[in-house]
Amino acid sequence: MTPKVFTKLLGVFVLLLVFQTVVIEFVFHRFVEHTPDGMLRVLDRETLWSGLIALALAVPIAAVLASRISARFRRVVTFARRIAAGDLAARLDATGSDELSTMEAALNQTAERLGENFAELESSRRELAVMLDSMQEAVVAITPAGFVRWSNAVMQRIAGSQLVPGRPLVHSVRDPELLACVRGTLERHELCAGRASLLAPGRVFEISAAPLPSGGALVVLHDATSIEAAQKSRREFVANVSHELRTPLTSIQGYVETLIEDPNPSAETTLEFLGVILKNASRMNRLTEDLLALASVESPDYKLSLQPVRASVLLQDALDSIGGIVVDSGVKLQSGGAPDALVMADPDAMHQVFGNLMENALKYAKDGKRIRAGARLLDSEVQFTIQDFGPGISSEHLERIFERFYRVDKARSRESGGTGLGLAIVKHIVQAHGGRIWCESELGNGAAFQFTLPLAPTPQNAAQPQPAQQTPAVV
Ligand SMILES: Nc1ncnc2c1ncn2[C@@H]1O[C@H](COP(=O)(O)OP(=O)(O)OP(=O)(O)O)[C@@H](O)[C@H]1O
Ligand SMILES: [Mg+2]
Repeated sequence: MTPKVFTKLLGVFVLLLVFQTVVIEFVFHRFVEHTPDGMLRVLDRETLWSGLIALALAVPIAAVLASRISARFRRVVTFARRIAAGDLAARLDATGSDELSTMEAALNQTAERLGENFAELESSRRELAVMLDSMQEAVVAITPAGFVRWSNAVMQRIAGSQLVPGRPLVHSVRDPELLACVRGTLERHELCAGRASLLAPGRVFEISAAPLPSGGALVVLHDATSIEAAQKSRREFVANVSHELRTPLTSIQGYVETLIEDPNPSAETTLEFLGVILKNASRMNRLTEDLLALASVESPDYKLSLQPVRASVLLQDALDSIGGIVVDSGVKLQSGGAPDALVMADPDAMHQVFGNLMENALKYAKDGKRIRAGARLLDSEVQFTIQDFGPGISSEHLERIFERFYRVDKARSRESGGTGLGLAIVKHIVQAHGGRIWCESELGNGAAFQFTLPLAPTPQNAAQPQPAQQTPAVV
């Protein structure tokens, strides 16, 4: 019952009272006026007065009651409006025991339940958002009309500020395969899978679009860049190995067939052919050894036996082991000195690193006539340098020479027995030590291969860096 109805009822009630008083007054007055009975006249006056007193009392009481009830109803209306506006904390004062209080208590209970349900819903919504944001996959929900409904943090990073809820997906994303997949799912309500390569530069995503029960679609994008790169690298590796093995094998096959077909080959020809066969067999042997070494250092099971070793000792061992070969080739080997600091290293693995770098320096910088090897102490590591003064490497090749099978001059490298795996092996070993490797070179000005090894955690190394201690200048 609204306050207006109550006001009307109150009016009717007052009118009835007035009417009753007037009727009583009129009927009795008329009737009694014409009767001679004085008793009735007294009755008439008393009735009139009592009617008037009753009216005087009833009107203010009814007005107070009506205004109270009306105020309570106004509070109920305000409460309902607050609930409708989402203020589920609104409550009514339901302390009385009348019907209105019972109704107010029931409304309070409903609001409380609504509040609890909303809180539960909100908490599951937040949990879901955190879960979706922590996913590695990009997720975006699309409305049946093709508008962005919601997206997780990964998707926002990929698509950038263009991806705004309420905007058409076509305005935010330009990949045609992704858009076609979404369109297909929205139109036919079926799953769609695909591959998006134009979403972000250099990245490839596997698309999975599924229809949502309420209409629209949910798109999940899985970053397949590294998987595709690994597959490509594996394919290239197999192709390279096959190519590298086929060249010497074809040569061996050719010479062996010639020898078989010639019933009486001269001793000279036989010797020459056998020499070529041996050279190619050795090349294949070297290649398989390098492949095995590479497989070993690339394996997740590759373990180094790290121990504190003096940088100066490591360098001296390297100079000693290559010394003989250097003397034969007429190249001068110089030591640039090395600090006494202890580095964490596996001596056998480091022997392989120095061996490969020095062999390269000898092989490719013959004209340089000089190789310089040294080390210097940095803040938390020691930097080793193997420098030659040969033809050097031009800048476009510098980034790639540490890749498997990469050779600047394939023909020349193959001629000198190179497989193109040496630097890849070196890089893996240095990185397994926690170090870095790079090459500084200019065409015509020699090449300086540099790598670092972390200092061993010893009190000696914790002290201030000391100046490099010089080892003998020339070996
Ligand atoms: N000191 C150097 N001066 C000039 N070029 C070099 C030098 N060291 C390496 N290179 C270039 O880098 C390429 C890769 O070297 P890497 O040691 O990996 O292979 P390789 O020497 O050809 O074969 P191997 O696997 O037998 O060592 C070489 O083919 C060569 O072109
Ligand atoms: Mg090499």
